[in-house]
Amino acid sequence: MAGGNLPSRDSFSSKFGIIAAAAGSAIGLGNIWRFPYIAGENGGGAFLILYLAFIFVIGIPVMMSELTIGRRAQLNAFGSFKKLAPGKPWYLVGFMGVIAAFMILAFYSTIAGWTLQYLYLSITDAFSGKTQVELTQVYDTFLASSYMPSIWQLIFMLLTGWIVMAGVKNGIEKYTKILMPLLLVIIIILDIRALTLPNSMDGLTFLFKPDFSKITADVVLEALGQAFFSLSIGMGTLITYGSYIRKDNNLGSTAISVSLADTFIAILSGVAIFPAVFAFGIQPDAGTGLVFIVLPNLFSQMTGGYIFALLFFLLLSVAALTSTISVLEVVVAYFSEELKMSRKKATVLASVSIAFIGVFATLSLGPLKDYTLFDKNFFEILDFTSANIMLPLGGLLIVVFVGWYLGKDKVSDELSNQGALKLPLMGIFMFIIKFIAPIAIAIVFMNGIGLLNL
Ligand code: TRP
Repeated sequence: MAGGNLPSRDSFSSKFGIIAAAAGSAIGLGNIWRFPYIAGENGGGAFLILYLAFIFVIGIPVMMSELTIGRRAQLNAFGSFKKLAPGKPWYLVGFMGVIAAFMILAFYSTIAGWTLQYLYLSITDAFSGKTQVELTQVYDTFLASSYMPSIWQLIFMLLTGWIVMAGVKNGIEKYTKILMPLLLVIIIILDIRALTLPNSMDGLTFLFKPDFSKITADVVLEALGQAFFSLSIGMGTLITYGSYIRKDNNLGSTAISVSLADTFIAILSGVAIFPAVFAFGIQPDAGTGLVFIVLPNLFSQMTGGYIFALLFFLLLSVAALTSTISVLEVVVAYFSEELKMSRKKATVLASVSIAFIGVFATLSLGPLKDYTLFDKNFFEILDFTSANIMLPLGGLLIVVFVGWYLGKDKVSDELSNQGALKLPLMGIFMFIIKFIAPIAIAIVFMNGIGLLNL
């Protein structure tokens, strides 16, 4: 099987296709919705620095480790661990990933549903001429309704399931290749508009000027969680995608390109949002609704705002879709390969059960918002537990597995494509995944949940 995949397994066809699919997974609501709102709640500049440090020191090595596991084993996340570590409990890491996929998709599809609602609103020209107060009302009214957000969420899950059912290669590669670059162009146009608003400098200061007094254990953990969430790492998405990558692809450069693209989009989104936040007098820590309140206001003040709003929400929905596909694929690959279901049955079962949990996440931001645990509603519990606890824990176990269990020989064999590529940074990579990344994750994690007090 050297030089190619088993003929029966679906795979990505071209080098750009792989990057597009992995970038399609990484780039999504995490960059455009979650990054600005989490950065806004955690003080801006200082959060950004931590986030960037985590991307480069921990994120890229974790991503390379996931791709290594998946391509070596040629299986879903659970099956990969089982195959590479027979008779050992490492498959539990894959299992935790499947659970995390359920949780992430349940709340992610809530916000993905919002993007459809906002796409609908832009088609009907609902933003132009409205004041900040009116646009906030539009958002509040939508959330308070008990059925519209759920209906959009279900439509989104249906779309996701429909594409996943068609299979990875046909479904995913095709869309991302054209649409991701287009999204980038629209965000840059938004940046220019935001930067020419009055007081926009205050927004840039907020985003880029670190105020180290704002760094607390919570902020550090939020930055780590956001880095993992945004890169789609820590739960087996990239193990699964890695298993579809051909043997001649350079995994290291794929991981670096994808991480750079992802980080770039997050920062550009921040540059669109925060200047506008300050120009319109909104609080940067306004929470989950931040971009949905700020951006329509920006559109209503742009020449051609109608068309830009429409394009933006269309592309944001697509970006969300290429991410939800990658999360659902983790579950579907597990169901079909491990539990021996047909792909169709696996997709239906996974989508329906996730949608069921998801509706409660959606309602917990509206009609059910008074039901809380530790001061968090159901949506926030899913988001916090998956991003800040399960992903870092998964990432820790993944690097330990690759660094200590697989070991240098197998890892360099895989990363070098059986010796075809030179690996000048192999020593550093091994050092990071054996020592730096696991220790750093463990410290941030224990400190963040209060087991350690630095
Ligand atoms: N990274 C995606 C985003 O930023 C979301 C996502 C896709 C994800 N797959 C994931 C997050 C796996 C965590 C784990 O929108």
